[in-house]
Amino acid sequence: MAKPDLIEILAFCTELARKAGSLIVEASEAIQSAPASESSVQEKQNAVDLVTEYDVRVEELLQKELRAKYPEFKLLSRAPSFIIREEVFLPLAFSIGEESYSAGNCAPLTSEPTFCVDPIDGTLNFLHGFPWVCVSIGLIHNKRPVLGVIYNPFLDHLYTGAKGHGSFLTKSNGVQLRLPLTSLPKPLPSLSQALVGIEWGSDRTAPSVIPKSTSFGRLAGDPADIPGAKMVHSLRAVGSSALAIALVAQGALDLFWDIGCWPWDVCAATVILQEAGGLLTGSHDVFGATKSESEAIFGDVTEEILTGRKYLAARAIAPAEGETASDAQKRIIEEFYETVEDVVIP
Ligand code: IPD
Ligand code: CA
Repeated sequence: MAKPDLIEILAFCTELARKAGSLIVEASEAIQSAPASESSVQEKQNAVDLVTEYDVRVEELLQKELRAKYPEFKLLSRAPSFIIREEVFLPLAFSIGEESYSAGNCAPLTSEPTFCVDPIDGTLNFLHGFPWVCVSIGLIHNKRPVLGVIYNPFLDHLYTGAKGHGSFLTKSNGVQLRLPLTSLPKPLPSLSQALVGIEWGSDRTAPSVIPKSTSFGRLAGDPADIPGAKMVHSLRAVGSSALAIALVAQGALDLFWDIGCWPWDVCAATVILQEAGGLLTGSHDVFGATKSESEAIFGDVTEEILTGRKYLAARAIAPAEGETASDAQKRIIEEFYETVEDVVIP
């Protein structure tokens, strides 16, 4: 297949994301004004892992339009496969659903262009009317994320990025701002000066919540009475991993850590982050195995990282004396991983 024309795909996906955004806003108005008895919500794994009929409608729009325009591309989606299989998308052979991931059998990526989409990221926010919600459309080619569009229709924040073409934030005034928003990356002398994005995730069982709570305590706590604590500036949980990583790209968060989310939560954001000089790595082990490698290998978001469900994003950091920009990111990530515990994903 010919090399995808990223600029043309970016324009198409941007328009599609805005269309999906209008649908999300309409849906939110319907949810906020519906009587409590009319629930459009279904549980997936538990009472905080939810899907609404609107996730399905937005998914339907995305699938229909992407399939019509790029029939030869594959699609990897957050779509709730049980609904898709039964009602809407059974005939779409190109869809790889969440079920195969949930069962622990990560369908391997191919080298073909593959859209990786989340129709509504921040579903709990969406249900509560908390305006950190987005549609996220990523493209993977040769097993690497190459394009990303993330649109928050409530704040009218559009993040776009394509490999080799930079990444941008466009707000409601239409002005396209290159990321990071600081003209030069800011330094980050130590973790204690960082604003760190975190998430509780949807697995609330003890093996997940206990090490996360301990880690959050160590990050935020005072080292005077919590051994190993860093007392970072603060922790933020915005409830959408796609938007949180976009905030790292922008420079508003210094780091973002999430365990248990999926490739469609991070794919689009990864490109936006990388094009802003940021870096996405995987678990403690992945970081340990790659930290002494060259900048190209260390910064490569491999299939192992993309599908590994353990993510740590770091913004572009101005190097201290004697460091490269990549050394500065490794230094902060090392300090971060010495502070937090690993979490087992069931
Ligand atoms: C969730 C969000 C959240 C992350 C969860 C995801 P959803 O996606 O991205 O930040 O921590 O793991 O499931 O369910 O809102 O699309
Ligand atoms: Ca999501």
